[in-house]
Amino acid sequence: MAASGAKLLWSGLGLIAPLNARALGVPPAGVGGVSIDTRSLENGDLFFAITGDRADGHDYVAAAFERGAAAAVVDEAHADALKHLGCLYVVKDVLKAMEGLARAARERTRAGVIAVTGSVGKTSTKEALRCVLGAVGATHASEKSFNNHWGVPLMLARLPEDAAYAVFEIGMNHAGEIAALVDMVRPHVAVVTNVAPVHLEHFENVEAIARAKAEIFGGLVEGGVAILNRDVSTFPLLEEAARESAAAHVLTFGESDGADAQLLDYDPQETSALVLARVLGEELLFTVGGLGKHLAVNSLAVLLAARSVGVDTRKAADALAAFAPPKGRGAREKLRLDPAFAGSEFLLIDESYNANPASMRAAIDLLGSAPVASVGRRIAALGDMLELGPTSPDLHRALAEPLQKNRIDLVFAAGPLCRGLYDALPPAMQGGWAPEALELEPLLSHALCPGDALMVKGSNGSKMHALVAALKQRFAAPAQNPEA
Ligand SMILES: Nc1ncnc2c1ncn2[C@@H]1O[C@H](COP(=O)(O)OP(=O)(O)O)[C@@H](O)[C@H]1O
Ligand SMILES: [Mg+2]
Repeated sequence: MAASGAKLLWSGLGLIAPLNARALGVPPAGVGGVSIDTRSLENGDLFFAITGDRADGHDYVAAAFERGAAAAVVDEAHADALKHLGCLYVVKDVLKAMEGLARAARERTRAGVIAVTGSVGKTSTKEALRCVLGAVGATHASEKSFNNHWGVPLMLARLPEDAAYAVFEIGMNHAGEIAALVDMVRPHVAVVTNVAPVHLEHFENVEAIARAKAEIFGGLVEGGVAILNRDVSTFPLLEEAARESAAAHVLTFGESDGADAQLLDYDPQETSALVLARVLGEELLFTVGGLGKHLAVNSLAVLLAARSVGVDTRKAADALAAFAPPKGRGAREKLRLDPAFAGSEFLLIDESYNANPASMRAAIDLLGSAPVASVGRRIAALGDMLELGPTSPDLHRALAEPLQKNRIDLVFAAGPLCRGLYDALPPAMQGGWAPEALELEPLLSHALCPGDALMVKGSNGSKMHALVAALKQRFAAPAQNPEA
């Protein structure tokens, strides 16, 4: 990152105060980036030796310097043993030091800052904002789903001084987590994509989840904008919290009447969708470069957020055509059952990144409207949804209803929780069940026919992405078909 001539992210001496560190060795002129993982560390980066669940970053300081780290942040206990390796910033607590740098980044930026939370759709919405804002100015946005106690400060610490816009994804498993994270981000605009029964293991009910999401409004700067989903059952609770915050404006989006950005019509095409919406009184027709009504609704939050940081709504809407759903969140690809025969294609819809009842339903709707050949069938391969608490078996079984309503022809299921759903289906819909995701591969390979559409989804921990990878390996894409 700090290749010659590249702009430095932080000066070496300037790091000492925000890190609250003492330097051991000669500080570099500057660092080009910030890293907590030696596998992705780039030459010239500052390495933070964070202690995680599985590993202690101090064991990787030598590897960091081998890969070209400019300096490392370590705690007192490890300083002596590591000082021969290179310049160290020695601190009491490495994570706290990274938070200090995060706060310094927020302090110095002149960017319009947007924070995104919600039960589902955080990453999709964040990536759509990256696409829209990136079309009009220098935009920094969180990587992947780096939205937790280390992800948020890491993404802030990487905020370049000259960014015009900054977008941060904020997640949570417990009450109080968002409050701590948004206190570092201090957004001008806070978005709650939606509230759904996710992480119910740690919450009594959906209202408790909504209250935890609403913590995001507590971090808004004076005069900021709160953007909320008007369609969710907990909307009144969210609205009240937003009105009690420092927000000067509360804006709403959704399909409901009265939403400031309201979805009027949704028309799916082959790989994109036409959306008609009324946004702050203005009717807009635009293309969203991804399928699913949920993405269209997310895009309304995107338009309101972009508008709130000064971007023209029409311009923002036009930019949404170039949006592409992130990997595992609706990417589509045609694969050939017979590599030599163009007529043997089936459609693979990769929703394998994660799943909860809300996103499962959205994905099942998506499959229900997927194009299939006249002989083709709609096939779902579903893995367990994890962390749903005591009602988990019911939440799985309840998916039988949207599967039937959407006329899904065949369901393949993996995992103990999906067993209950599988057994609740009419026999004609039962394609096969297996304990593990990968064991569905031979069953699917046998069942798939030309013209079928297959949608794969499950919680990250259910490893349905491994099934997608196995199918892609077995059935190669035709040469002219670029990777989605
Ligand atoms: N508003 C929404 N409602 C339901 N499902 C959604 C919504 N937005 C995105 N999804 C789907 O949910 C899954 C997770 O999306 P993602 O954007 O990664 O959410 P998060 O970052 O909150 O985990 C994907 O399959 C995606 O297509
Ligand atoms: Mg995410």
